[in-house]
This record gives sequence, C-alpha cells and structure tokens, in this order.
Amino acid sequence: MPLFRASKTTEIPPGEVREFQLDGHTVAIANVDGRFYAIDNTCLHRGGPLGQGLLHGKTVTCPWHGWEYDVTTGKVGASPTVGVSCYRTEVRGDDLFVECE
Ligand code: FES
Repeated sequence: MPLFRASKTTEIPPGEVREFQLDGHTVAIANVDGRFYAIDNTCLHRGGPLGQGLLHGKTVTCPWHGWEYDVTTGKVGASPTVGVSCYRTEVRGDDLFVECE
C-alpha cells in the first residue's frame, strides 16, 4: 500500500487526535505518548468523525454519540470483534506518513 504524507509530527500534540484527508480517504491520527496511530475516521455507528473526538490514553470517543475506539487496534471498546480499519504510520524526520489504500 502506498504511503501518504499526513502532516508534520508537531501538528498532532501528545494526547490529541486529528483528521486528515489522504488521497480522498479520511483518517483519524492520534498521538499516544509520542506514538502515532491511524484509523479510519468514520464511526461505525452513524458516521461520526473520530478525528474530531476526544482522546484519553489510547481511547478516542466519537463526538456524536460517545462510542469508544482503541486507536491502537481500531476496535470498539465494548465489542472487541467490531472495529474500523487501522493503518501503519511512519515518521520520517518531522513528517508523518500513513500507509493506506
Ligand atoms: S456516530 Fe459515532 S457514536 Fe454515533
């Protein structure tokens, strides 16, 4: 899968999550203690934007109705067999890249 440049690493401070458009695909990227995790931005409930949610530890809460996702796995907290796609991230210098379709 191709790598897409998402942002500067400094654009996503520790403890924050942001949404980015990568070649027509929207991903939510979270900074958990300096490590970056990327998941699909679209909540499985009704399509809420996970990249606009709140991050606590490795859990992002959907801003619309509160479903919680583990950003390291994409899984919905209450139902570990259900989740959104995860994407590999890579830091090169000050730039953050995400591998996605
Ligand atoms: S759309 Fe995400 S919890 Fe409802």
